[in-house]
Amino acid sequence: MRQALDEEDVIAPYSKVKRLPYLRACLDESLRLFAPTTHNLGRKVPEEGLSILDEWIHPGTSVGMSAYVVHRNENVFPQADKYIPERWLGEEGKALQSSFLAFSAGARGCIGRNISYLEQTVVLASVLHRYEFALPHPNWEIKRLETMNCLLGEMPVKVWRRKLDTAQA
Ligand code: HEM
Repeated sequence: MRQALDEEDVIAPYSKVKRLPYLRACLDESLRLFAPTTHNLGRKVPEEGLSILDEWIHPGTSVGMSAYVVHRNENVFPQADKYIPERWLGEEGKALQSSFLAFSAGARGCIGRNISYLEQTVVLASVLHRYEFALPHPNWEIKRLETMNCLLGEMPVKVWRRKLDTAQA
């Protein structure tokens, strides 16, 4: 990522950071572990009923899947509780997108998905370009607060200016 930006870049120009597969993999892995909407977003089965995975579901039934649960399916995401951005890279990584529910799916899925990637990419690239970060200690873990959405507890972070040395990056 550092190679993509020049020393004088303060806010990362989107044109320079939009095709950084590892950065995108980090975003997807974070959204997989902590999708803000974790609960089941119900959909109503239509009047004619519906067969889902060979099971007949009656009209009017509310069905849905929790992103939190789907994202922890060990058959799809081995070591599901671990942060492993590399799983999203390459062809195998692409195939995981069908099990990625952070933005929900289907006709009522998030329409802000693309703009959110633009914003996340620019913000993350900009702060990582200028600053370094450290957690209180290597085994420190964030607390999750069980509310309707996935809220996270306090995150004490040490932040300091990165010494820009693009030649070494
Ligand atoms: C990381 C950022 C975001 C996440 C994780 C997210 C996630 C979601 C989810 C899970 C839904 C529910 C879809 C459903 O019911 O199936 C949704 C809906 C929606 N989102 Fe987002 N969203 C994000 C950012 C944004 C942004 C930036 C915008 C607008 C600029 C936006 C606009 C919308 C709208 C309008 C809907 C309703 C779509 C509909 O009901 O047809 N979202 N989003």
